[in-house]
Amino acid sequence: MSKPVELVVIGAGSRGAGAYASYALRHPDQVRIVGVADPDPIRRGRMAEAHDLDDAQCFTTWEELVAAGQLGAGAIVATQDQMHVEPAIAAMEAGYNVLLEKPMAHTLEGSVQLVQAAERTGRILQICHVLRYAPFWRKLHEVLESGVIGEIVTVEHRENVAYWHMAHSFVRGNWRNKGLSSPMILAKCCHDMDVLVWNLGSPVKRLSSVGSLKYYRSESVGPEIPLRCTDGCPIEAECPFSAIGIYLDYDRTFPDARRRLIEGGFDPEAPPYWPFNVISPDVSRAGRQQAIETGPYGRCVFHCDNDVVDHQTVLMELESGASVTMVMHGHSNQEHRSMRYDGTKGTLRAVAIEPGRIEINIHGGASEVVTVDTSDVGHGGGDEGIMADFVRVLRGEIAPLTTARVSLESHLLAFAAEEARLSGQVIAMADYRARAEELAALAG
Ligand SMILES: NC(=O)c1ccc[n+]([C@@H]2O[C@H](COP(=O)([O-])OP(=O)(O)OC[C@H]3O[C@@H](n4cnc5c(N)ncnc54)[C@H](O)[C@@H]3O)[C@@H](O)[C@H]2O)c1
Repeated sequence: MSKPVELVVIGAGSRGAGAYASYALRHPDQVRIVGVADPDPIRRGRMAEAHDLDDAQCFTTWEELVAAGQLGAGAIVATQDQMHVEPAIAAMEAGYNVLLEKPMAHTLEGSVQLVQAAERTGRILQICHVLRYAPFWRKLHEVLESGVIGEIVTVEHRENVAYWHMAHSFVRGNWRNKGLSSPMILAKCCHDMDVLVWNLGSPVKRLSSVGSLKYYRSESVGPEIPLRCTDGCPIEAECPFSAIGIYLDYDRTFPDARRRLIEGGFDPEAPPYWPFNVISPDVSRAGRQQAIETGPYGRCVFHCDNDVVDHQTVLMELESGASVTMVMHGHSNQEHRSMRYDGTKGTLRAVAIEPGRIEINIHGGASEVVTVDTSDVGHGGGDEGIMADFVRVLRGEIAPLTTARVSLESHLLAFAAEEARLSGQVIAMADYRARAEELAALAG
């Protein structure tokens, strides 16, 4: 039997520790965590305890970890968006194969430089486009690839971000401000672009985009609304974005959560999982209360320093002649993606919700509904799936499902969409791809 693959974790936050390193605890026969880098002593300590790491295996920064020489076969790089390029390139140069969180970089140049570094060093650089590894999205791809609906002519793809998720991540949280993280079309939709690239198999020829931050801004409310939900807000009780309703009295926002916690053997007064564990390392009610009274997650959604859009539409024409609209917004009642593909032989409608549903109607003929269990934690099984694949790739059992160069295309589309939205121009993607390579050469 093969030995467990040894991995280090750079950035032991929600994703590094929660989504990926936890795989080693569930599958000790496959993965062993042999090092961690994180400046946060609580997170570093939790990793050390969970994975039995000694002091020599714990580092304060990624620079220190990389300087210590190669500790394992692979590195999981799960730092925040603007800290991906340097640690991933340094890790590859130090000999690690890298599993890198998306977006691969927050700049065009950085994205291309990563691909060039992977090709130069010969290391595997797998980007966490986790949907490709989730059963629902694999099934959708399989149906489209079978040709059952013929040649695809037009696609509508929607990324419906739930209002509370929008408030948590893109108004109050880590991805609220472009200058601090990345544009929302990149942060949220490089996944959607990747799915489209994967399913359509034809490059985008040109694209345009519109969108704005329409609602989550101070002009949307009157002067009587205070800066924090806990500051006696007169509409707190009925406000769907209330931090009290999301993080404290969470039954208001997530009616099923308390029952699930109790059934899962957890303390309902200390929900252990996302999004609660993001606002404070102390998830007790007192800890969460303090977090919303003093930290960023208690701010009124109309009084934050957010500047990312709350709705954006991208219109794309493919080299094949097909056309695609992609809609992303943060006003959905429920978190889900939905799609419609119309082909020369039939129509496919799909909803990535629990359970995932794919309905295929052949013109003048048969119809079929396929349901896929999406209840598996972490992107409908995508987080678990990408780890399983990464392990098998490092063991030499399979080839990577995608390369960094394939992942680059989804990022270029997102950057181009943002440029198109801001400039009002139609972007010719052949020119844009050439410009990206030039910029990277100049920056390199
Ligand atoms: N694949 C997906 O679907 C998906 C989902 C959510 C987030 N993400 C991405 O994952 C990344 C991480 O997100 P997160 O929510 O886990 O963030 P996080 O803030 O919880 O974790 C980042 C960690 O990096 C650590 N860090 C900061 N400086 C460091 C340094 N110099 N060296 C080492 N570590 C350092 C921080 O202390 C923190 O613990 C982001 O880029 C995000 O966009 C991807």
